[in-house]
Amino acid sequence: MALLPLLHRDVGRPLFLPAHGRGSALPPAMRRLLQRPAGLWDLPELPALGGPLENDGAVADSQRAAADAMGVNRCWYGVNGATGLLQAALLGISRPGEAVLMPRNAHRSLIQACLLGQLTPLLFDLPYQPDRGHPAPADGPWLESVLAALPAKHPPISAAVLVHPTYQGYGLDPAPLIRSLQHQGWPVLVDEAHGSHFAADVDPELPPSALQGGADLVVHSLQKSATGLAQTAVLWQQGERVDTDALQRSLGWLQTTSPSALLLASCEAALHHWRSSAGRRQLRQRLMQARTLRDQLRRDGLPLLTTDDPLRLVLHPGRAGISGLDADDWLLPRGLVAELPEPATLTFCLGLADQRGLRRSLRRAWQQLLNAHPARAPQPPLLPPPLPLVAQPEVPLAEAWRAPRRLCVLEQAEGTIAADLLCPYPPGIPLLVPGERLDGARLHWLLEQRQLWGDQIPARLAVLSEIA
Ligand SMILES: Cc1ncc(COP(=O)(O)O)c(C=O)c1O
Repeated sequence: MALLPLLHRDVGRPLFLPAHGRGSALPPAMRRLLQRPAGLWDLPELPALGGPLENDGAVADSQRAAADAMGVNRCWYGVNGATGLLQAALLGISRPGEAVLMPRNAHRSLIQACLLGQLTPLLFDLPYQPDRGHPAPADGPWLESVLAALPAKHPPISAAVLVHPTYQGYGLDPAPLIRSLQHQGWPVLVDEAHGSHFAADVDPELPPSALQGGADLVVHSLQKSATGLAQTAVLWQQGERVDTDALQRSLGWLQTTSPSALLLASCEAALHHWRSSAGRRQLRQRLMQARTLRDQLRRDGLPLLTTDDPLRLVLHPGRAGISGLDADDWLLPRGLVAELPEPATLTFCLGLADQRGLRRSLRRAWQQLLNAHPARAPQPPLLPPPLPLVAQPEVPLAEAWRAPRRLCVLEQAEGTIAADLLCPYPPGIPLLVPGERLDGARLHWLLEQRQLWGDQIPARLAVLSEIA
C-alpha cells in the first residue's frame, strides 16, 4: 500500500491547510467522535440523519440552527469543498447564455461552473502589487471603473462574484462593493473560502465578512479558515434576490447522493465551535499569537508582508533574492511545510493549531536558507499581467474547451486561442482561460511567468486547432 502508510507519518510541521493542523485544533466533539471505534460514524442518509437537501432529519435541523445563529435565511453544508458549493451557487443564479462578472483571481471552480452552465465569464482585472506579485482586492473606485469599462456587447449579466479575502489574506470591507453590484440588479456571490473566521465576529481588526456586508450568497471553506476536515464547506443565503428552490435544485445536480456523515458532522462541529465560548476563545488566542509571532519574526529580520489575516504568515524571500518556490523546496525537507509557494513569496497557514516553537524554527531555518544562497540580489518588481480591465473569452468557453485542439510550444503560441485553463495550483487562479487569445504581450508575460513558476506552467499549451 502506498497511500495509507503516509497518513501515519510525520510530514513536518503543518503550516498548510486544513487549518486544524493535522487534528490538533479539531473541535473537542470531533476529536471524541474520531476516537470512537473506527468507522462508527460512516452512516448513509438514514431517516434520522437525512442530508443537506432534505427538509427533515438531523442535518436539516443542524443547518437551520446554523443559519439562525448566523442571522441568514438558509445554509447548506457541502462535502465537495468550496468548489462544489461555488459551482452549485453560480448555476443556481444563472441561466445558459448569461454572463457573470468576476475578478481575475476567481478560483478555477468558478470558471468550470461557467463551462457547465454555458455562461460567459466577464473577467475584471485587479490592482497588482509588483513587489510581491499578488493581486490586491478591488476597492469602490476600482469597481466603478470596472463597471464603466464593461464591453459594449456582452450577454446579459446574471450575477457578480467577489473573492474575499485573497489566498494570502488581503481583504477590504466588501460591503460597498456588494451594494454597488446589487444596485446594478445583480445578486452577489462571495467566495469567502479563506475568510470563514471573519464571520465569527471575534476580532474587530479582521475585515468584516461578506455576510455582514449583505452578500446574497457566501461560500466558506471550513477546512481553509475554520476547524473542519478537508472537503467541508458551507453555503449561506440571505435576502430575497436568490430563488431558493433554483439553488436547491442546482445543489442537487452537483451533490453526491451519498454525502459523508463524518464530513457533515465536521461542518456542524466547525460552525458550532465558533458559537461556543471555548471556540471563540481559541480563535481570539490564535489571532493574538499570530500577530505576536509576526512582530517577533520581523524583529528577528525575516521579511514578512502584512496582509489582513494574521493567520496567513507571508514570507517575502524575493526581497532577499530567493524565490518562494526555491525557499519552499529548501524548507520542505527540513520539516517546515508551507501552503503556498509563489515566485516571490511563501505563505504559511498558521491555522488554528498551537504553533509553539515556530518562531525558533523559522528564525533558524531562515538564517540557514540565507547562508545556503550566498549569491543573491533582491528580485526586481514583477510585471503585472497585461490585461484589459474587463474582458470576455474571444471564443465561448464551453466551445473552446470542447473544440479540436493541438499542443503548441509556448514560444510559438502568439495569436492562438487557449483550449485549457492554465492554472498553477495552489492558488488555483487561472493565468489563462479557455477561449482567450494569446496576443504578443500576454505571451511575453506568460513566458516570463514560466521562468518564475517553472514546470507549473507547461512548455506546451493546448490551443484550438483552428484559429477563429
Ligand atoms: C479562493 C478559493 N476559492 C475556492 C477554493 C476551492 O476550495 P476547495 O479546494 O475546498 O474546494 C479555493 C481553493 O484553493 C480557493 O483558494
